[in-house]
Amino acid sequence: MKERFAIVILAAGQGTRFRSRRAKVLHSAGGRTLIEHVVRAATQLSSAGVFVIVGYQAEAVKAELQRASFGRLRYLHQPEPRGTGHALLVARGVLQRAAPSLLVLCGDTPLLTPQTLRQFLKFHAATGCVASVLTAELTDPTGYGRIVRAADGCVAAIVEQKSASASEQKIREINTGIYCFRSKELFSALQHVTADPITQEYYLTDVVGLLQKSGQPVAAFPAPDAGEVAGINNRAELARADALLRLRKARELMLAGVTIHLPETVRIDPDVAVGADTELEPGVSLLGRARIGKDCHIGSGCVIADSVIADHVTIRPYSVITESRIASGASVGPFAHLRPGADIGPEARIGDFVEVKQARVDRGAKAMHLAYLGDAHIGKNVNIGAGTITVNYDGVSKHKTVVEDNAFIGSGSNLIAPVRVGRNAFVAAGSTITDEVPANALAIARGRQANKPGWVTRRRKTKASARKGASKHQ
Ligand code: UD1
Ligand code: CA
Repeated sequence: MKERFAIVILAAGQGTRFRSRRAKVLHSAGGRTLIEHVVRAATQLSSAGVFVIVGYQAEAVKAELQRASFGRLRYLHQPEPRGTGHALLVARGVLQRAAPSLLVLCGDTPLLTPQTLRQFLKFHAATGCVASVLTAELTDPTGYGRIVRAADGCVAAIVEQKSASASEQKIREINTGIYCFRSKELFSALQHVTADPITQEYYLTDVVGLLQKSGQPVAAFPAPDAGEVAGINNRAELARADALLRLRKARELMLAGVTIHLPETVRIDPDVAVGADTELEPGVSLLGRARIGKDCHIGSGCVIADSVIADHVTIRPYSVITESRIASGASVGPFAHLRPGADIGPEARIGDFVEVKQARVDRGAKAMHLAYLGDAHIGKNVNIGAGTITVNYDGVSKHKTVVEDNAFIGSGSNLIAPVRVGRNAFVAAGSTITDEVPANALAIARGRQANKPGWVTRRRKTKASARKGASKHQ
């Protein structure tokens, strides 16, 4: 559009078909809310301003967009959801002052790209019409408004599914809910729209028929990719959009050199980065701001959120990693749990059923089986035996465990914090360590074993004679 235009996004509806307490546009697909997708596409165009019409759960919608930090948005309030036409009408004054033309978007079309919008704006400018509709040819047009074309190819009317005749229902060209208007003509036509007899709503789509009748032709631009314009009205459509957006992200990573096995099974949020030659096995989730380096291998079913993983790291299947760091060459899992503040050093190894929380594990240290390391600093090349527990919580506060370089903690040990095990020290298996272990010392802290020879044989005999006595007295 040569003329300056403002963008308005309709997001005031409840979304009754979602059967949700939460406003429809606040549901997520592909790791972002529906409204965030649309606002992102809109803010990538240079416009005279982006306006969002809010109504149902307005405060929550605004808070969501503020969280996603879109600074330049302006909000307009539709007090009651009385239809897409009504939504624009209540914002008339502000929108007319904003720019001579308007690009209208819906808050429930998350797949839409700025490229398609740019093509549409260019098309609209070239036609010189007062209005243009972005349309799409669908194999199944059910639910959408149908485009009724006039003999000259212009749009004669848009007929909603509920009001469409049998022959109109066969039309496969649909209204995407995205339009360009000259504001003046839009608002004078909108004044004449009457409430739909079935739903009592004021339909924006009725403007098209009114303009056409008053001799102001409306042009239609079929979207080059019909898959982009789907409006999400229920949770089945939400799942489909989610799958498509996830595949878009997976494809982007694959083209950048990441191997993804069964890409339709992975769930990767939009802000995640993955280095080249890293391999993702099926069913991996990479969430939030996870950053994975080069040449890593992430096993099936791992969930990695908001963590930084360096190059050459192996994460074996079904590990859960949140707000943690893993240095180059380390390996983790299978079935490991790294909770916030886990910081795994280079070449360190964390094995199965090991939980790490707020703990640093230095270069080359190992905890291969069944351990809990919380509020701890584990030094270089330390060996943590199977079943070692840092007893970090006394019911009131957390305390720190320090195990210095090259120490060896035997299996089944409890390290009762606050406590320190010195360099090269050796803790015997099964110890409960309550006091500092000096460097190079051996600590044994467990009850001594006592063997009673022949005890089992003697007991067997006593029990047998007791049974005989009892049966005699029956
Ligand atoms: C609308 C179109 C239909 C088109 C489809 C494309 C109308 C009458 N119909 O139908 O032709 O094929 O989109 O996806 O416009 N909204 C408000 N205030 C309201 C009502 C809705 O802001 O009073 C917002 C909603 O939050 C939503 C958008 O407008 O983001 C579209 O509303 P929705 O109810 O989904 O319209 P559809 O029935 O899908
Ligand atoms: Ca819709």
